[in-house]
Amino acid sequence: MEVMDYALFPTRVVTIQFQDTEPLNAELCDLLERRPELDDRFNMHPEALNLLRLADTVPAIEQLSSMFINGAKRWLEAEGIAGLEGIDLLLFSNRMGRGDFTIVHNHPADLIGIYYARTAVSHRPPIHPNDGEDYFEAGDGVLVLHDPRFNANLTAVCPRDHVRVFPHPGLMLIFPAYVWHSVTPHRGEFHRLAFSMNFTLRWPAGPEEQYPLK
Ligand SMILES: [Fe+2]
Repeated sequence: MEVMDYALFPTRVVTIQFQDTEPLNAELCDLLERRPELDDRFNMHPEALNLLRLADTVPAIEQLSSMFINGAKRWLEAEGIAGLEGIDLLLFSNRMGRGDFTIVHNHPADLIGIYYARTAVSHRPPIHPNDGEDYFEAGDGVLVLHDPRFNANLTAVCPRDHVRVFPHPGLMLIFPAYVWHSVTPHRGEFHRLAFSMNFTLRWPAGPEEQYPLK
């Protein structure tokens, strides 16, 4: 008898906890405090306000951009993906006041990066796949990643249909943009601040002379 066991189609999530990010986070928070109109958190289309336009004049945005690009490279390396021509980037912020939350959504891109500049204090590891907490336990600004398989929650034999992420300042996540996610209500009196980067991968053009379109 030969028994094989395959965990097929896993979803890769890369986390990076950056160190000594207090000055960067303070600059990012200050930027959004001074210019709250920059927060355009629910408009993630290509024509949206792209905070990368500030990279030439705001060093914190430039630094954050290179951190995101490094994060995406880590994810691509881990997946064994090479040969890209480039990556289109769209950076936007998500500034939450007390009681704010984000309903379940995904992003029109290939990869998502999230960086936390200011969050509730949590002493838990950011990802604990089997934390045993109820799906409806709200927490405080917890990111919930939902199993991308259709109706995965109805698969009674597999109880892990979501993963809760407990953010820390300086934490970055990179994961596929098709992953549905949501954020539970923020409970603090301060503004919680996260930044999202949409990565759209660009591939080299095909040999047109070999496969003419006309
Ligand atoms: Fe999102």
